[in-house]
Formats: sequence, structure tokens, C-alpha cells
Amino acid sequence: MKREKFGSRLGFILVSAGCAIGLGNVWKFPYICGAYGGAAFILIYLAFLVVMGIPVLVCEFAVGRASKKSVAVSFDVLEPEGSFWHYLKYIGIFGCYLLMMFYTMVGGWMMYYCFRSFRGDFAGAAPDQIAGAFGTMLGDTSTMVFWTVLICIIGFGVCLFGLQSGVERITKVMMAALLLIMVILALHSVFLEGAGEGIRFYLVPDFGKMRDSGIGNVVFAALSQAFFTLSIGIGAMLIFGSYLDRTRSLTGEAMNITILDTFVALTAGFIIIPACFAYGIEPGAGPSLVFITLPNIFAQMAGGTLWSALFFLFLTFAALSTIIAVFENIIAFDMDLFGWSRKKSVAVSAVLVILLSMPAVLGYNVLSMLQPLGEGSTIMDLEDFIVSNNLLPLGSLGYVLFCTRKNGWGWEAFLKEANAGFGIRFPQGLRAYVAYGIPVIITVIYLKGYYDMFSARGTQVLVGWMAVAVLFLAFVFYCALRKRK
Ligand code: ALA
Repeated sequence: MKREKFGSRLGFILVSAGCAIGLGNVWKFPYICGAYGGAAFILIYLAFLVVMGIPVLVCEFAVGRASKKSVAVSFDVLEPEGSFWHYLKYIGIFGCYLLMMFYTMVGGWMMYYCFRSFRGDFAGAAPDQIAGAFGTMLGDTSTMVFWTVLICIIGFGVCLFGLQSGVERITKVMMAALLLIMVILALHSVFLEGAGEGIRFYLVPDFGKMRDSGIGNVVFAALSQAFFTLSIGIGAMLIFGSYLDRTRSLTGEAMNITILDTFVALTAGFIIIPACFAYGIEPGAGPSLVFITLPNIFAQMAGGTLWSALFFLFLTFAALSTIIAVFENIIAFDMDLFGWSRKKSVAVSAVLVILLSMPAVLGYNVLSMLQPLGEGSTIMDLEDFIVSNNLLPLGSLGYVLFCTRKNGWGWEAFLKEANAGFGIRFPQGLRAYVAYGIPVIITVIYLKGYYDMFSARGTQVLVGWMAVAVLFLAFVFYCALRKRK
């Protein structure tokens, strides 16, 4: 079967940016930023995007473009015979599925809130009604299942039409609409009375607040967020390299995508944080920020129904663009591994993803007694933790090792692929940094993150989780360092 290709360069950039731009930008980023001290957190996050995000993204695109396969087969194609790199594919396969196992649910929440906003449900509602509505939704199994299944059907429906007529065409329209709605919302928000204090909080770093949260926690959160926002480490971006020709070098494209992604995250903050301050509400409310805090603000605002509907439409497009992109990966796994047609892969993957999304959905109601990460935690938290704090950094570690080690794909082959075509070249002088610097940074922050997260929970819990972390790391290094036979 001939591999499909993007119709245009813009298509590639917008579909890849669509994969990157998602809940991480519009939902996680504003509340993590609110909780960890605003601008101080943003500075660290931006630094990670530049020094870690872009190089890893170039590695992923290069592996995809050279192998012309999804992560399910790309290592097998490029690795030297007798090596173990191909085991790293499981990080990608599990990662894409696990990400979708909770992402579809939260995407469903966004769609549900969009629908309710258009219906005017939140107009003039009292704060406890709005808080109650979120709780009621979480507890209502059929509503949760309905919206999760619906977003899955829409996502797979788009993929069924193929790369150019489905994924590329729809994502282009959605991204254009998203950017337009976002700019309108941000302009509206920063001109609200009293928004100035929020803009200051957002733009002036407060390192004292960062110290209060624990520097280790903030740095770990910033690193995880940088990987999450670019969807790097699980091969989700790699696939778009595999649909790309060699007219453009990859560093410039990775930079364009990172800039677009960062623009959306920062603008989402400009929508949310000044509005919180204008209405005297703390922006560090956590995950419920967009579902409770913001509808409350919209309820008090002139024209609130329209602003709320536009806001949730913006969130829905962001979630859906990522869902479609990752579904495209999941479909490609079957096509690459078993030679199935797109139609068959879509049908099988749709059933599988819908079923796999159920634990997260039920974790808020029927299975709410399961609290895998301690009191109050949910199944989604565990899934998110495995993906965001483990598979993304570990997968990224795998890519940089693969692209730099002699017993892997190697630096020369990587550089040749990354630099093929017109545009910015990947700096040759960064070899030692990519080969040793990035792996050391990931390893240290990864272990320190586990330590900070579990050290307050008693020695036994800490030792158990640290053992898990070391085991995961050992797997990646084993695949990387094992000598060829
Ligand atoms: N990159 C995706 C997001 O930010 C996963 O939501």
C-alpha cells in the first residue's frame, strides 16, 4: 500500500500543531500556571520547550520521515540488526492508547459544556448551581458515556476519510476557527475592568511563590508540561513526519509548531487569568478551573452566554484536533503492523478506544472507590500520571538516545534526515548536549519528580514508587545500551 502524504506544507504544520494544541494548552497550562506562581513557572516552561522540546520533536519527525512508518514499526525499520531498540515502540503504542483513555472523556466534557452553554444553561446561574452541575455530570454515568462515545465517533469518522480528505481538511478548518475565537476571547478578557492585576500576575515572575510550591515540584511540572503540550515521547508527532516529503528541513518546522503551540497556551492564560482577577477569583483552582470557576465568571458577565459558548467551542476544537491526530496514530499502528485497510483499522480501533475509555469515565461514578494515587485521586489521575510523568519523558529519552548512539540510528543518519530540504539546520555542535545533556536532565528531573511526589507519603510508599521509576528507566537504558550481537 502506498503511504499517504500531506496535501500541503500548511496541512502538515496545522495537523502537527493540532496534535500539540489541546487540553494541555487550554486546560492544564492555565491552572498549573495559576497554581505554581504565574510568570515564574512560565519562564521555566519556555526554557524547557526550547532546550528539550524542540530537539526531541526534531528527533521524532526525523525518525518518522526516514522510516515512513508509525512508531509501531519505525524502530524496526531503522535500528541496526540484533539491537533492542524496537522494544521502545511499546512506550509509543501504550502511550497513545493511554492518553486517549482519559483525553476522550475530558474532550467529551468540553463538548457537553459547549452544548449546555449554547443552550444558555449557565446564564445567571448561582455559584453553587454551577459547582453542582459539574459534580452532577461526573456522577451521571450515561451522560459521561454518551459524550465520550460521541467524541470518539466524530474523531474516528474524520480519520475514516483518510489523511488528506479527512484529517488534514477538517483540522485546517478547526485550527483556523480556534485561532480566531481565541484572539476574540483574549481581547475581551484583557479589557475587562480589573483585569490589570491578573495580567501582572501572569507576566511578572514571583519566585517567592515558586519557592513556596517547592522548586522540585515546579521544575518537574514544567518539564512534564513541556512534553505533554508538544505530545512528544510517544511517537504521536512522529507519524506526521512519516507523511512528509523532503522539501523542508525539520528544525524550522518543529520551531513553527512549537511557536504556534506556545502562542495558544499563553493566549489561553490571557483569556482565563485576567478574567479570574477581574471577578476576584483565584486562578489556582486546579482542574475544575474551566468547569466551575469560568462558568461562574461567564454567568456574571454581560453577554455571558455567547462568551461561554465561544470559550467551550474553543476548548472542544483544541481537544478534538489532538484526538483526531492521536487516532490517526492508533489507526496507523494496525495498518503498519498487520497491513489492514484504513476502514478495518478505524472500525477495530474505534471499538477498542471506546471500551478503553470506560475505566476513566466510570472512575468518577461507579468505580469512584478506586483511588489509585491516594485519597481523592481517580482512575484518570493514574492514567494521566503514567502518560505525562512517565511515558512522555521516558519515550523522549529513547528518541534522543536512538538518534545519537552509534549502536542506534546514530547522529550522522539523524542529522542527514533532519537537515534534508530547505530551511534551518539542526546545529551540529549540539551533539554532546543531545547525546548526554538531555538524557541526564530527563533522568535527574524524572527521579527527583518521583521523590518529591511520594516523599510525604511514608518511606514504604516512597521506596515502592522509586523502585517503579528505576525499573522504567532501566528498561529504556537496557534497550539503548545493549550491544549488538
Ligand atoms: N499535546 C496535547 C495537549 O496539549 C496532548 O493536550
